[in-house]
Amino acid sequence: MCGIFGYIGKKEAKNILIEGLESLEYRGYDSAGVAIVEDDEIKITKRAGKVEELKKVLLKNENSGTLGIAHTRWATHGLPTENNAHPHFDSKKNVVLVHNGIIENYLELKNEFKIKTASQVDTEIIAELLSIMPEDDNLEKLKHVSKLLKGSYAIAIIFKNEPDAIYLAKKESPLMIGQDNDDIFISSDANAFKKYCKSFYILNNGDFAKITYNNIEFFNKNKKIYKKLNKFINTFSFQSNNKYIMLDEIFQTPDALRETANYFSNFKDIKSYFNNIDKIYLIGCGTAYHSCLYGKHYLNFLKVPIFTEIASEFRYGDYKITKNTLCIFISQSGETADTLACVKKCKCKTLAITNVPNSSITFACKKTILMKAGWERAVASTKAYSCQLLIFYLLRCLLLDKQPHISSLINAVKKYLATLNMETLSKNLLNYEKVMFIGRQGDFVTAKESALKLKEISYLNCIACPSGELKHGTLAIVDNKTLVFMIATQKKLMSKNLLTKDEIEARGGKCLIASCFEGYDIKLPHTQSNFLPIISILPFQLLACNVSILKGYNPDKPRNLSKSVTVE
Ligand code: F6R
Repeated sequence: MCGIFGYIGKKEAKNILIEGLESLEYRGYDSAGVAIVEDDEIKITKRAGKVEELKKVLLKNENSGTLGIAHTRWATHGLPTENNAHPHFDSKKNVVLVHNGIIENYLELKNEFKIKTASQVDTEIIAELLSIMPEDDNLEKLKHVSKLLKGSYAIAIIFKNEPDAIYLAKKESPLMIGQDNDDIFISSDANAFKKYCKSFYILNNGDFAKITYNNIEFFNKNKKIYKKLNKFINTFSFQSNNKYIMLDEIFQTPDALRETANYFSNFKDIKSYFNNIDKIYLIGCGTAYHSCLYGKHYLNFLKVPIFTEIASEFRYGDYKITKNTLCIFISQSGETADTLACVKKCKCKTLAITNVPNSSITFACKKTILMKAGWERAVASTKAYSCQLLIFYLLRCLLLDKQPHISSLINAVKKYLATLNMETLSKNLLNYEKVMFIGRQGDFVTAKESALKLKEISYLNCIACPSGELKHGTLAIVDNKTLVFMIATQKKLMSKNLLTKDEIEARGGKCLIASCFEGYDIKLPHTQSNFLPIISILPFQLLACNVSILKGYNPDKPRNLSKSVTVE
């Protein structure tokens, strides 16, 4: 949620900053801006809209500065306008900064310090405070201001009186620094400078950094500190074949599954972590929460109770957690604020399942299982969801001392994707005003994930409902403008499912069944039941992507959703 990029080195900053922002666009893309120092003068260029809009003007500008900070925004306070876009100056133009996170007490601070701001964003208060702090030294000013701020922040700052330095501060929101000889890069995500650097530094909560040409210094609130370099863990890189990243990522699923399964051998000692536990909580948000729901199905042979929890709910609830409780946190990004807050609350056994090494949730948990889905850049999660389910399948096999059937799974997924065509159905869907996904047991999880995928990138009015629950009220909204997709993979429930279809059609609705049995509308492969959660979502991921494109949207950049939700 919001991406920060910075550069200081021997090259012209503007191209590097734009390239960095393009890599970070998955974190937000409603406005973007840069501040570049040229001849000791700080020049800001900002635009509302995608990074592309900024690029058009910036690359035409004459600006040979070699130090700059940049930002791509996902609006939290104030509209996505040019005025609200970062970087922000203070009113005296002493300080310019970019910020990721939320300053929760910015209104109180405005009142307390009698500050007037020019934009609607919380960020500006940081610039104003830095500008009025009495200390002579910029680092001391920054330490002082950070004590006043409540909330989360990653901040990169340039002071007018020290134009050859970038200062950084971090609390909760991620911030990393990479160095390649004379070139130093700053980013919210190390992947954005990975092509330049072999290793990188990670700022922890409460850390500050001062970066000048060729030099990086770290501090905490008391003293200078030294940090270790982190190596990039080789993530899988994939070829791009399609115009849209989301389509690429759906078709990368078999490779992502293979890499994840191979890498899982590094985590086999996790088995003993399941000894002597009294219960399990599976916690996540959005798609990752849906993985938790399936996780419960995969682990239901265990003799302890298993609970699934939405992180934004769990963080404020009362739970009976003991030192023998195992809390498993699922997060593709490893940075989701609600999930991270839950980790901090759990004084028990904690296990992270993430796709991003060195992410905040992996640091906060006692144990980690890392997936190898490769960098997921489309905002809507697809291949990472499949890999999360795979991890639960692998955990099931590990805990039951059974051999997983990885080649059969991957072959089944590959074969299915090669024949899958959702084009006609996607076009037909546009004739309906309402879309519903239904299913029973595990299939209801697929229904929930399918509905989320469709609504998040095509903005259609769609819901998910357990099939048997329809008759308890929801049938009231079924009419001849309603299309219902039923996921039906269990033979023993087929007669019940057909009754539900009749109920829908009696109200004029259209019901299409996705099943692994013959004679239904969307064919799923006939394969072992443990594979079906991973396979049955594929047609609906593709459907969502097709519908989004048919409606003229870019599925990779949906409105009102960011890849990494680092604010509450
Ligand atoms: C939907 C989607 C979101 C994320 C959710 C959690 O396609 O991507 O619902 O699943 O924001 O994100 P992570 O997994 O990074 O914690």
